[in-house]
Amino acid sequence: MNANKTLTHTNGADTDAGDLMSRRTFAKVLFGGVGLCYAGAIGYPIYRYLASPIERSMETTKVSEVTLPDAATLELGAAMMFKFGSKPAMLIHHKDDTWSAMEAVCTHLACTVQYQAEENRIYCACHGGVYDAKTGAAVSGPPPKGLKAFNVKVQDGTVTVSKV
Ligand code: FES
Repeated sequence: MNANKTLTHTNGADTDAGDLMSRRTFAKVLFGGVGLCYAGAIGYPIYRYLASPIERSMETTKVSEVTLPDAATLELGAAMMFKFGSKPAMLIHHKDDTWSAMEAVCTHLACTVQYQAEENRIYCACHGGVYDAKTGAAVSGPPPKGLKAFNVKVQDGTVTVSKV
């Protein structure tokens, strides 16, 4: 009877030790997994932040030409936005039937600029920067230099914009 009690007690202690070990292992795995999740949640945005300028510049340098098949139907005095690589760009069909294209990124603090047909100018709403609609040259306001201009070729109803 006593032997049975001892045996039972010993088995209970073994079971407690086994439970304790498995709880410790479980806790290690759980905290390790949670730690990895936190590291990923913090590390990935930091990695993207650090890598994005490099990736963007590589992507931008790769693109040298953009074809805009529907752009030839753009009315006189109208403009359209498009992407040249990773950056916004603007195509303008002037009233004299000439074309201009330029990067639509303000040279002051990189806001996206917009074409104002009634004023025939490119305007940056952030700080009132004004650019020439034909050349992209800085006209007034804080922009230190003009917008980056592109070549425009219209052929067979398709507009092709390329780096100068
Ligand atoms: S960002 Fe365009 S004028 Fe300042």
